[in-house]
Amino acid sequence: MSVDDPKVVAKFLKEKTKYRPTIGIVCGSGLSGLAKNVQESQTFNYEDIPGFPQTTVAGHAGELVFGKLGGAEVVCMKGRFHSYEGHPMSKIAMPIRVFKEMGVEIMFVTNAAGGLNPNFKVADVMIMSDHLFLPGMAGKNPLVGENDADYGPRFVPMTDPYDPSLSKLAWETARQLELLEKGFIHRDGTYAMVSGPNYETPAECRYLLAGGADAVGMSTAPEVVVARHCGIRCLGFTLVSNVCVMSVNGGPPPNHAEVLEATQVRAVQMEKLVAAIIANLPREVEIVSNAPADPVKGGGTPAWLTGAYAVGALAAAAIIFRGTQQ
Ligand code: HPA
Repeated sequence: MSVDDPKVVAKFLKEKTKYRPTIGIVCGSGLSGLAKNVQESQTFNYEDIPGFPQTTVAGHAGELVFGKLGGAEVVCMKGRFHSYEGHPMSKIAMPIRVFKEMGVEIMFVTNAAGGLNPNFKVADVMIMSDHLFLPGMAGKNPLVGENDADYGPRFVPMTDPYDPSLSKLAWETARQLELLEKGFIHRDGTYAMVSGPNYETPAECRYLLAGGADAVGMSTAPEVVVARHCGIRCLGFTLVSNVCVMSVNGGPPPNHAEVLEATQVRAVQMEKLVAAIIANLPREVEIVSNAPADPVKGGGTPAWLTGAYAVGALAAAAIIFRGTQQ
């Protein structure tokens, strides 16, 4: 990375805090409340950390909060960096290397996003199982440039961007908290990251849905790529702040106020869930191995729709066959 050195930033922070966090939490739009549950906290403004990027978006604070949550030492990023603010990708993801330098092994990432999956409603939560990093695929990737082998290999596998065991732990913890019966949590889904800052056109939404995405947002993937490069395990939550409009004038346009409002509806439940997952981490293997087996993953296509496609395909084949007989 060509921007300010994460090792220098970590050295600065280590001199100023006694905390050596093993858990890093990146708070998305309107989800900064996660940090207020951090006990015995010590807060640094981004502007007081030499070499740290600065945020520019309303609703995104700019603070690094150290302390204890769920019995572990954590560091919380209140406010993240976006490509649409004009930051290079390497700078957006640089705090993740600071996490690594400070001892972080697990990263929680949260974001607000538009729902593409027809089953998703406003204020639903999706446990992230995969992503489409569209700017990254087109070359705007934080790992472009000389590889820093101190952090990881040149060609980093991305077969497990979001840790399946942590995702299962999240699901089982939601079960313990009796959140599953409320029906707002989806156990898996693919997040598409676009550059923004404009929201998507209806054609872009249809394109992303057809490409396997369940939700679309403007963050997270660069941080996760850099985390996976240096071996940090990731757990991601997407909060559906609006439902994507799939045809021209086919619904109300999204706006940032609505994004912040939707996050308020779930803030307390999300805060409780994150703290409870951290408290469950020491029993991760036991909880995950005793969990009921996963159902078959369906991605963006609900089972009934797959069935409808099959019936449609058979009907079309029958019509074509009849046509060839006449
Ligand atoms: N698109 C992209 N990013 C978003 C959206 C959306 O609909 N909602 C919240 N962030």
